[in-house]
Amino acid sequence: MKFFIDTANLDQIREAHDLGVLDGVTTNPSLMAKEGIKGVENQYKHYVEICHIVQGDVSAEVIATDYDGMIREGEKLAALDPHIVVKVPCIADGIKAIKYFSSKGIRTNCTLVFSVGQALLAAKAGATYVSPFVGRLDDISEDGIALVAKIVEMYHYYGYATQVLAASIRHTAHILQCIDAGADVATCPLSAIKGLLNHPLTDAGLKKFLEDYKRISE
Ligand code: E4P
Repeated sequence: MKFFIDTANLDQIREAHDLGVLDGVTTNPSLMAKEGIKGVENQYKHYVEICHIVQGDVSAEVIATDYDGMIREGEKLAALDPHIVVKVPCIADGIKAIKYFSSKGIRTNCTLVFSVGQALLAAKAGATYVSPFVGRLDDISEDGIALVAKIVEMYHYYGYATQVLAASIRHTAHILQCIDAGADVATCPLSAIKGLLNHPLTDAGLKKFLEDYKRISE
């Protein structure tokens, strides 16, 4: 399973990249706003900086919600760097835009996906990635991971090449559940990725090894 980090924060992106296991980055307008990056030119520079750090897929979301606007914006984003994946919301004009981008060889991430039906449309339009939002479904007492599993199963059954990118991951247990569900990618906060390292037996075992070694090294 590929790991993306779900942030526009450069320090966190560098830290995850330095760990050596980072495959890409997802951003969205809220994450860009969190970093306070004002103005389109600065936002575009920020995307390029992220691409230079990770050298992996970087999702940059269109703001337009109409077909022509999405095409204009998506083409500009895609031209910034070969690693850019144009993120498009799962609405009618978005599906049409994904179809257009796919015909031009521009890679896409269909975002804000909350049902198998939406995932089917994204795949038929030729999306590179589809992003079911796990945490937001859990927030309304639905089962986000069950949706990921159903999309994975549907894509395998029909042979769609679209990769399932589990988004809105909130904690380490979600990542483990994504593995069980067969997600191709999980995009996670840094804390959730680092949480995978934690095990009390690792800490206790290492402490004991170092204590025992100290006895023979003096
Ligand atoms: C990433 O592609 C999504 O935009 C992001 O995971 C949404 O996460 P949230 O539900 O925690 O805002």
